[in-house]
Amino acid sequence: MAIEQLLILIKPDGIKKSLTGNILTKLSEVRMVIIGAKVLKVSEKLAEEHYYQLRDKPFFSELVDYIQGKIYGEPWNRVLALVYQGEDAISKMRKIAGATNPEEADPVSIRGAYGRITTHGIYENVIHCSSDSSEAKREIELWFEPEEIVKSIYPTKKVVLEKEEKTIWA
Ligand code: PPS
Repeated sequence: MAIEQLLILIKPDGIKKSLTGNILTKLSEVRMVIIGAKVLKVSEKLAEEHYYQLRDKPFFSELVDYIQGKIYGEPWNRVLALVYQGEDAISKMRKIAGATNPEEADPVSIRGAYGRITTHGIYENVIHCSSDSSEAKREIELWFEPEEIVKSIYPTKKVVLEKEEKTIWA
């Protein structure tokens, strides 16, 4: 048994369908702990980096559009990004998420219950779930800054930033 962390994204279709509460309730069944959470609009750069291993797939550009919520527009074009931690978190959470293809997913899993395949053949499968611990590390480091995670999970280093512009409350 290993303590693992993983990235979960509630995708724009999950947000639009008001499924956030249902999904969080389902995910809480296996008693993992949330150690990071934020809502964000996904930039093209972030979307492409997240899915870079799929860059040669025919559906890549539609996948990048989908995670950005382009087809949904305001106010649904955002994702809820979460980092969960716990014993064997990846396999436990992926079981609740269900198979990537919503038609093949267990009907009581999140993707089986709420996902669909569009007429263009794109999976709108409501959530993303890291596939293994090395992908989880890559994804968490891509989506979160170290200070946004309430626990120390990966090595960090200190850097001094000069002339960095930052917005603060007025
Ligand atoms: S997984 O679950 O990450 O292990 O599965 P994988 O097959 O590697 O993920 C592929 C991601 O591409 C999305 N996607 C599709 N895959 C296959 N075929 C089609 N038509 C397709 N359309 C979209 C799929 O949802 C996976 O993204 P995530 O965010 O992991 O669900």
